[in-house]
Amino acid sequence: MQPAQRIRSFGETVFAGYARRAREVGALDLGQGFPIDGPPEFVRDALQAAADAPQQYAPLSGWPALLEEIAFDHGRWLGRPLDPTGNVLVTTGATEGLFATMQAFIDPGDEVVLFEPFYDAYPADVIMAGGVVRTVPLTPDATGRWTFDPADLQAALSPATRAIVLTTPHNPTGTVFRDDELDVLVAAAHEVDALLVSDEVYEHIAFAGARRLATRPGAWERTLTLSSFGKSFSATGWKVGWVIGPEDLVSEVRRAHQWIPYVVATPLQEAAAHALRHAREGNDAYYETLRTTFETRARALVDALAETPLRARMPEGGYFVMADARSLGYPDDVTAARDLPTRVGVGVIPPSAFFLPEHAERAHGWLRLAFCKPVEDLREAARRLSTITDVSFTPEG
Ligand SMILES: Cc1ncc(COP(=O)(O)O)c(C=O)c1O
Repeated sequence: MQPAQRIRSFGETVFAGYARRAREVGALDLGQGFPIDGPPEFVRDALQAAADAPQQYAPLSGWPALLEEIAFDHGRWLGRPLDPTGNVLVTTGATEGLFATMQAFIDPGDEVVLFEPFYDAYPADVIMAGGVVRTVPLTPDATGRWTFDPADLQAALSPATRAIVLTTPHNPTGTVFRDDELDVLVAAAHEVDALLVSDEVYEHIAFAGARRLATRPGAWERTLTLSSFGKSFSATGWKVGWVIGPEDLVSEVRRAHQWIPYVVATPLQEAAAHALRHAREGNDAYYETLRTTFETRARALVDALAETPLRARMPEGGYFVMADARSLGYPDDVTAARDLPTRVGVGVIPPSAFFLPEHAERAHGWLRLAFCKPVEDLREAARRLSTITDVSFTPEG
């Protein structure tokens, strides 16, 4: 049986293959972005307590206790009161929120602007909705910070532009977009009357504090913001996320969502509500600790990499650094990522997975390393990378 046209270009997600390879050879895996030390005690307790919660279908928008927590929290962070059922939709991770958003707003032929490198689900979501991907390059500036040229964004716009997708903090580059950069996006969205989709799953891991697109002047009415319980509470396996925005936009995402998972697992929503309440009642100290823990980890990795042939700029947030690996001498990033687990016992992700196939060469010489791991593991991984003495790689066999 031939698969449908819309999935024919899809291979296996880069994370599955490289994680498997790292596991098989017993490498220290700095590939996939999940925190191996897991969620804090209060999150585990909330999960256990949820065994006594209702076990039947939740309401369509989400479990009321969770909707209320999300509306309250994001209301204070966005600086506007949010209605729990009108402005919030609980989704099966941010992943489903993104898929449902594209299904809700993208018609065949509509163009969606992505910043490249992009989180690899975005083009798949656009393609599955029948849309067309337009890209705006992110490149390192003189300080090594990845950003975009407003002229490139302008060039990517057309009368067919229906949405612009932002990730901040950005995966894989570690950029947290500044207000002036966010304002360029808002102006662009107004110019072509496009939806803004702001993927802020790493909102609590922005080292200088979160910058939220929906707070910028003129943004709210056309912005859907996505977040993820998994990222904020180091429990990526829960796959609980949410979409926030004005009622007329959220209701359209809900229309698509009702035919995707229908609703999200009730016990997990109840547990997530407990965890959010716990964090709020602790005056957000939990989020502060999360941020400083990850900042310490990022710093530890960047400093340790300075003792290796790799170079990385201190990221501004997220789970990842883009390391300049040109001096290793590999012909491309995929060859490097395939070789490093066996050569030195370190798993990484080749960033070409975050570029269109025709732009893959822009990823050559770069590797994505996750720092959402214990500091000892990060230092050990760097120690292993420092043992690469022969930097002129010659492929074996
Ligand atoms: C930028 C970005 N968006 C979305 C997701 C997926 O979030 P979730 O696990 O809540 O579906 C990830 C996970 O790595 C991510 O990095």
